Amino acid sequence: MSAHEAGSLHARGRVPAWLEVPADVNALLPALWPGSALKAADGVLRVGGMAATDIAAQVGTPAYVVDEDDFRARARAFADAFAAAFAPLAGARVHYAAKALISVGIARWLAEDGLAVDVCTGGELEIVRLGGIAPEAVAFHGSNQSDAELSRAMALGVGLIVIDSLAEIGQVARLAAAGDWRADVMLRCSIGIEAHTHEFIATAHEDQKFGLSAADGSVAEGVRRLAAEPRLRLRGLHSHIGSQIFDTDAFAQAVRRLAGLTAGIEREHGLRLAELGLGGGFGVAYTTGHDPLDPAAIAGQLARQVEAEFKAVGAGVPHVTVEPGRAVAGPAGLTLYTVGVVKPVALGGGFTRLYVSVDGGMSDNIRTALYGADYSATLASRRSSAPPRLARVVGKHCESGDIVVKDEYLPADIAAGDLLAVPVTGAYCHSMSSNYNSVPRPPVVGVKDGLATVLVRRETVDDLLARDLYA
Ligand code: LLP
Repeated sequence: MSAHEAGSLHARGRVPAWLEVPADVNALLPALWPGSALKAADGVLRVGGMAATDIAAQVGTPAYVVDEDDFRARARAFADAFAAAFAPLAGARVHYAAKALISVGIARWLAEDGLAVDVCTGGELEIVRLGGIAPEAVAFHGSNQSDAELSRAMALGVGLIVIDSLAEIGQVARLAAAGDWRADVMLRCSIGIEAHTHEFIATAHEDQKFGLSAADGSVAEGVRRLAAEPRLRLRGLHSHIGSQIFDTDAFAQAVRRLAGLTAGIEREHGLRLAELGLGGGFGVAYTTGHDPLDPAAIAGQLARQVEAEFKAVGAGVPHVTVEPGRAVAGPAGLTLYTVGVVKPVALGGGFTRLYVSVDGGMSDNIRTALYGADYSATLASRRSSAPPRLARVVGKHCESGDIVVKDEYLPADIAAGDLLAVPVTGAYCHSMSSNYNSVPRPPVVGVKDGLATVLVRRETVDDLLARDLYA
């Protein structure tokens, strides 16, 4: 096995096109880190005024670290941008998508900042309720909701229920009658748009489980059935075309189709659909290969499209909701790991890949294995003067797909005991974490003004055993 210092020079053809050899392997790539992140001369990563070494000493590794100010600034930036762009129209409201990352503490930040929230299970609903989000500021979404979840949502008085199937109309109506509740609802529509993203996170094309199809008449049938339900008030149509989308044309097409559908329904049923849900899905930069729009650009574009398309079909311009999750939580978070085994693996042709193992892996970040997602990483505990070397960051799980970062240049002298930080792990990492191999899940730690606050504590083996009734 060869540990060729110049591994990167032998890597031609095996390195993704967007990955450049860094001029300084210690430097942080701009745009991938929370606003407060920096490295001083000692090379130690600092975030929220705290050194990565101090965070690791306080809470251990692996740990999800969230820059509180950065998270809150991103959420407020969406809220402010949509309020401003849609003020001349019928207004807009931002619902943070809790599935990206939520805890009671995080819900409290959102409540303090006046954000509304989108939840899709009874579990998320209880968390945001405990965090102080007012029920009327909650939209309850999902597919295949249980009677218990829908009843709980109506008993609390959530602001909106987004209906995902014809069957759910009857279900919500039956539960509303049983509990003597009323509900404002939207119909989630599948409008035949193929957004350019991974198949598992594209959601409005035809061959997938979400929504009522516009093409086969299910949307029209849903409107008819709702008209016969006195306890349910149809507020409008909803569509979420997918996630990690940069393609603004896809959103433009969605607005056009929703405008057409809305106008048709308004004419046929003599209704006014005053609300339009455009979902979330706004892409973030995981690497230098991505170039996302900022909230003001997104809001401005959507406002122009909504105004033009609804006016074009003679429908009233609706009040709009959007549901960003990833674009708020993703870049505000990073994961801190401790490096263990470092293993150069010769692949033939003079190419050696440096496998850098960390103390977590696919149980704390499944996105690389599940979607082939790209990430980046940096040495977080010291400065290195070694040359950059092409590396792959892997975890401690028992399978070869246990990859955290497929390709990254790390200092050639990276070694056991070093801290490694992976940026843009705020969204869909903690929320999709598992106990694979009975590995306890990492804590979620908020950092701000030089203080670390544990929002969700580290799981322990005792926690795992607590559910095992034979333990
Ligand atoms: N609204 C609805 C109805 C959704 O289904 C979703 C995401 C969102 C909003 C928020 O989308 P965002 O702004 O976060 O892209 N686990 C995948 C993402 C799945 C998203 C599911 N729905 C991932 O890690 O990429």
